[in-house]
Formats: sequence, C-alpha cells, structure tokens
Amino acid sequence: DAKAAGNSAFSFNEVEAGVDETHHVAEGYDADVLLRWGDGLFPDAPEFDPANQSAAAQARQFGYNNDYVGYIPLDGSDEHGLLVVNHEYTNPHLMFPGLVTLAEGEITMNALTKEQVDIELMAHGGTIVEIEKVDGKWQVVKDGQYNRRITAETEMQLTGPAAGHDRLKTNADATGTKVFGTINNCAGGVTPWGTYIMAEENIHGYFGGELPSDHPEAANYDRLGIPEGSYEWAAHYDRFDVSKEPNEPNRFGYIVEVDPMDPNSVPKKRTALGRFKHEGAESIVSKDGRVVFYLGDDERFDYVYKFVTSGTYNPDDRAANMDLLDEGTLYVARFAEDGSMEWMPLVHGQGPLTEDNGFASQADVVIETRRAADLLGATKMDRPEDIEPNASNGKVYVMLTNNTRREADQVDAANPTAKNAFGHIIEIAEADGDFAAETGSWEILLKCGDPSIAEVGATFSTDTTANGWFGMPDNCAVDSDGRLWVSTDGNSPSGTGRTDGLWAVDTEGDARATSKLFFRVPVGAEMCGPVFTEDGETLFLAVQHPADGGDDWEGFGRPSYYEDLSTRWPDFDDAMPTRPSVVVVTKQGGGKIAV
Ligand code: FEO
Ligand code: CA
Ligand code: CA
Ligand code: CA
Repeated sequence: DAKAAGNSAFSFNEVEAGVDETHHVAEGYDADVLLRWGDGLFPDAPEFDPANQSAAAQARQFGYNNDYVGYIPLDGSDEHGLLVVNHEYTNPHLMFPGLVTLAEGEITMNALTKEQVDIELMAHGGTIVEIEKVDGKWQVVKDGQYNRRITAETEMQLTGPAAGHDRLKTNADATGTKVFGTINNCAGGVTPWGTYIMAEENIHGYFGGELPSDHPEAANYDRLGIPEGSYEWAAHYDRFDVSKEPNEPNRFGYIVEVDPMDPNSVPKKRTALGRFKHEGAESIVSKDGRVVFYLGDDERFDYVYKFVTSGTYNPDDRAANMDLLDEGTLYVARFAEDGSMEWMPLVHGQGPLTEDNGFASQADVVIETRRAADLLGATKMDRPEDIEPNASNGKVYVMLTNNTRREADQVDAANPTAKNAFGHIIEIAEADGDFAAETGSWEILLKCGDPSIAEVGATFSTDTTANGWFGMPDNCAVDSDGRLWVSTDGNSPSGTGRTDGLWAVDTEGDARATSKLFFRVPVGAEMCGPVFTEDGETLFLAVQHPADGGDDWEGFGRPSYYEDLSTRWPDFDDAMPTRPSVVVVTKQGGGKIAV
C-alpha cells in the first residue's frame, strides 16, 4: 500500500493553511514584495502619498488590484525581462482614506469625487515594466525604456470582424475603430510572439444610465448584465452612460493585444475572439503551426471557447505574427455525457447563425457571442476561469470556480455538482493531441472543497493533507516541467478557515489529484497571476485586494469574515493603506522551485 505522495512531481514542505495578516511561503523559499500599488514606474514618478492621491500621479505608478502576471524575457533571459501585469479593478473603500464611515453600526460610503473617479480610471488597465535579477534579488528597472502604463483612457484600435461596424460607432468615434481604454482586465496571456494579452472581463459594472427596453441593443446588453452601475464613472463621463452613448458597451468585452516592445504602440482589441466576460487567453502553437487560444467566459452557466488562427506562427519573423489574431475560427465547447466533446465553430451563415436569427454578418456573431453560443447548444458551465494548455502532456486544464445557483435538475456530466460552492477542474485531451482539433475527450481532474466533509464530494487524493485541499480555482499556471499550479479566489469569505493561496496539483500517475499548499495570502486577499520563468527558478504571484471584507469597512478597510482581523499588508505602516502587490518567489540559495 505505497503512499502515492512518493510519486508526486513536487518536492516541498507544504504551508499550514490558515488565516492571518500576512503571506506565507513554503520553508526554504523567499517571497519578496516586488511591486506595490502606487510604486513609481518611471524616473519622474511621484512617491506614493495615500493622503494626497491624484490621477496624474497614479498614471505614473503601479495600478490597483494586480491580477494576471506575465513574464516576457529580454534577449531570452530568465533574469532580465518585462513583467506585464493586469490591474483588474479598484476597491475605493480600501484606496481612499475616510471614504467609508462606520457609526453606530451604520456603514456609509460617500460618493467619490471626480478626482477619485479619475484616479480609478488611471488605476485600471495594465503595467509593463522592466525587471532584473541582481545579486539573486529581482528589482524594478525604473528607467526601463519599455516601461508603460495602460489605463482606462489609453487609445486603442478595434480590429477584426466587428471593427468599423455601425454597432461600434459613437458620438466620439464615427469610424467604430477607435476606443479609449480597457477595463476589468482579469487574466491574460503572453503570445508565442511576445505580445501581452489583456482580457476584458466584468465590463458591466462600469456602465450606468438606462437604456429603453425597446432599444436594439437591449437584449444584447441584458445578456451581459449591462448597465450594472456599480462604479460612479457614468456620473462624470457620458461614454459610460448608456442613455447618452448607447454603443459604447459594444466596444468593451474583448481580448486586447499589446506590443510591449514599442511603448507607443496602439493596443488592439481583437474582435475575432468574441465579446463576453473574457477571463484570459493562454495560447499554444498547434502541430501545423496555427495558434490556439483558450478562452473562458466567467459567468454562471456560460461557456468555454477557443480560437484557432487561420495563419501559422512564424518563429523567425515576429512582424509576420502581429495580426494573426484578426483571422481565425472561434469555437465554443459542448461536453458530452460520455466524456467526448466537440468544439462548435461560431461562423456566420453556418447552422443557426443567420440573418433570420439576427446575425447579418460575422460582426454580429462576435458582438453577441453569448447568444450565438446559446443557439448552438454549448454546455453551460460553472463559471469558466483561467484555461491552460500543457505542451508536456497534450492536455488542457479548465478552472471552473463555482456556481451555487446550479440546481439538482441542472447538473450534467461536466458540471455534476448541485449548488457547486467550491468548483472543479476539467482536463481536456484534444483529439490526437492536436490543440487545433475540433473534437476531443474530457474528464474531471478534481472536484474541489474539503474532502473531510462528505457532502462536499471533493475528490482530492487521500494523500492530500488538511492543508492541501482548496476551493474556488481561478488562475492557474503550467510550469516548464509541465506541472500544474492552481490559485484560488474566495476561500476566506466561504468560511473555510483558510485564505486563498497557490496549490501544486499533481496530474500524472499515482499521485494524480494530490494537492499541496505552497503559498498563502493575507486575510481578505485572493491569489492571482502565477507564472514561472522558463528556467523554473522564479515564480511571480499577485496578491489582490488584501483586507477586503465586503460590507464591514472602516477607514482603510476591515474584513467582515474575521471580525477582529484586518491587515495593512505589505507595509504594516499606520500611514499606509493595504496595497495589492506582486510577490516574487525564489529558492534560498538558488535553483528550481519545488524540485
Ligand atoms: Fe476576474 Fe473571473 O475572475
Ligand atoms: Ca480570475
Ligand atoms: Ca494562467
Ligand atoms: Ca478573481
């Protein structure tokens, strides 16, 4: 009765699960804070001063709520490159001192000033910053020639089938091709040709106002929950008010591609990859050289997609790859009960995607991707998050974070848990190991949650310790040895007695479905961004929204889940708010991580 753990691909002593005010990494490793919200990215960037914030300062500083992290080597180096980081959203109650008051048990959140809204716009988007390992420690190169902030106001170009369409034209842009900014950039990707991908996810919250119910876009926006109005941007900017600028939401919800090697390049919104709540876009080159992007639409009962380029990747000519994302086929997944699956093309004129159903061209198909996928009968999933192909074993890993609204009569083989509170992970095997294939097979790698509670139905291996299980898989990474790492979002609020973190998950052999905790975040945070350098010696992690507690804030925030516990991580300075930050993990004395 040999212990399968002996066959684990990972070697480290796991962290003890729990909740406290700081981060923890496995013994023998350093976890250093590399970039904090407000850190200057340019020689002229002002020092972060939380009591005197300004939009102009924020535009020169690291943004808020770091999510996706990518590493783009310079000259092939694993010790000198560009870090690309998404800034998904803002938490004004944690950013602006005194915004929230708590008196006699009543919570009041004051309206934001115009300047605070402008700071929010500048705190969104992304960061491109040069970093270098010097004497074994990573540091930011403040005068790096590629350093750049992308914000909710950066000029971008709409490209692909929807570009220039009437549904994308606004008062400010009669061409339907020029849009300012990107918002709610969750996960992302780095392409084989070294561009940075930012996925626009929860775009609905930024739009306010009201659209008449008989407006031609009403059903389109309703399918995406637009306008939700959780931000106050519409009060100051007409383009975020759908009653004034009804087409603006059709210009968001895309995959954005940025060339980081030219700080003046205009980012491209690639409409060919569809418009929905894009979680991320990790890619891989298929056998015949076409490039395959895996795409999740993070909503309860929404879909898993992939995009296969028409053209092939040219490793010898970077410029030849720069518009590969404008032509190709977008597919949506149907997971069959028997473990087979098909990728159904979303192509205008095929099947129900015709004029009769309101699709006059491929532009309509991509603008209303969800409705097109509804008509094809795609499988309604439990919130598809990050999806990662693995070149080492030809498989694809799909994080499905949770869906407590799935009723017992709505379960299917691929989403087998009613009231799915803790999520699951699906492993896809594309036909013949070809990532561009139109069919494949699938199985569930893991049902998540506490395996000691029978009703949860978790399927971690019996070698998984009490520290090793997790719920709510969100981001993930495959390292250069083909090993899967999963980071989570939501363990604190679910009362699991543990924060979010990064877990190492075995996928092969006897150890399959064994999980070990490598890193955990401070109270209130979620864990984002895992990415490794090619040599396996550096791991970048993003600690997002530390100290966020939902609805019981005071001053800079106090988590409600743990009444007496908050954090001012990572500075632990009363004059400083807590700050979302990127952490860099290396092995003490050097060497590969978890080997
Ligand atoms: Fe922004 Fe789906 O997580
Ligand atoms: Ca996510
Ligand atoms: Ca990933
Ligand atoms: Ca998340």
